[in-house]
Amino acid sequence: MKRISLTQYLVEEQRSHDSIPAELRLLIEVVARACKTISHAVGKGALGEVLGSAHSENVQGEVQKKLDILSNEILLEANEWGGHLAAMASEEMETIHQIPHRYPKGEYMLLFDPLDGSSNIDVNVSIGTIFSVLKAPDGMATPTEADFLQPGSKQVAAGYAVYGPQTVLVLTTGNGVNCFTLDREMGSWVLTQQQMQIPTETAEYAINASNARHWYPPVQRYISELEAGKTGPRGKDFNMRWIASMVADVHRILNRGGVFMYPADARDPSKPGRLRLMYEANPIAFIVEQAGGAATTGTERIMDLQPTQLHQRVPVFLGSKNEVELVTRYHQQA
Ligand code: AHG
Ligand code: MN
Ligand code: MN
Repeated sequence: MKRISLTQYLVEEQRSHDSIPAELRLLIEVVARACKTISHAVGKGALGEVLGSAHSENVQGEVQKKLDILSNEILLEANEWGGHLAAMASEEMETIHQIPHRYPKGEYMLLFDPLDGSSNIDVNVSIGTIFSVLKAPDGMATPTEADFLQPGSKQVAAGYAVYGPQTVLVLTTGNGVNCFTLDREMGSWVLTQQQMQIPTETAEYAINASNARHWYPPVQRYISELEAGKTGPRGKDFNMRWIASMVADVHRILNRGGVFMYPADARDPSKPGRLRLMYEANPIAFIVEQAGGAATTGTERIMDLQPTQLHQRVPVFLGSKNEVELVTRYHQQA
């Protein structure tokens, strides 16, 4: 089998579609290299002294794990000096990170969730990294936080890595979705799946059912109909999966279909859902749509939202098109 590396894929993509400018190509390669470094640290586990709590909190009041902080630092350091970025933003930093003055600046802005699925780090379950790429406003060398608040439809690239039994990188630049597997011996990313497509129909769903008593009526209705199975209104049995690492749940859905939900619920109106728009929902929505799926808040398309805050949360329904459309219809009818 002829092996196509990430570099070769990006160069050929640039040539044939003119869709990946050289600076964006560099950016993607640098992020991929950082993910390789994170994967290496994850793989060491206890031997690398990377497990456990860092005994600090991020701006969202979540206790940070050592790997949350380490992964954030790896991504920052890798991306600072290349000249491809104007600024960065991360789940683990209160405000944006400017490129130090000693380095040249570029036209892109990078956002990331350095380590997704933190609760799974210490128990050896798949975790990952999510990233989103935006363009800085023209001629803007030192963007402000407000410059980051662009709708997801403006993303020029997005991707995620999963650190699991295999380390994979899933990428879109707006021309479909491709998956690369890390060859650990060679240290290179190899193209292993091209133009991934999420099956439109599915019999699998993912939701944290322990929150059921807080759900709003449209979600209660949708889930109870799935649970009713063959003898219920849907006339078929559904299966449930919840990994608690969005990247891993989404990777399953990309491969065999399904619907992933983290709805808003009746608890705290200032926290609609759990996932963050800018560096979790938007990049995953971009990938899911590029793979033929759908991603909504229950009432509107995620990528149409005009963000108001860097760390804002958003309800999420994404995956196989027919299911996302159905649960969205239930919200609109309510
Ligand atoms: P993070 O580790 O970056 O904070 O994100 C975790 C997210 C997401 O990956 C996952 O789907 C969800 O939180 C898990 O939520 P529960 O703890 O409610 O299962
Ligand atoms: Mn996350
Ligand atoms: Mn995280």
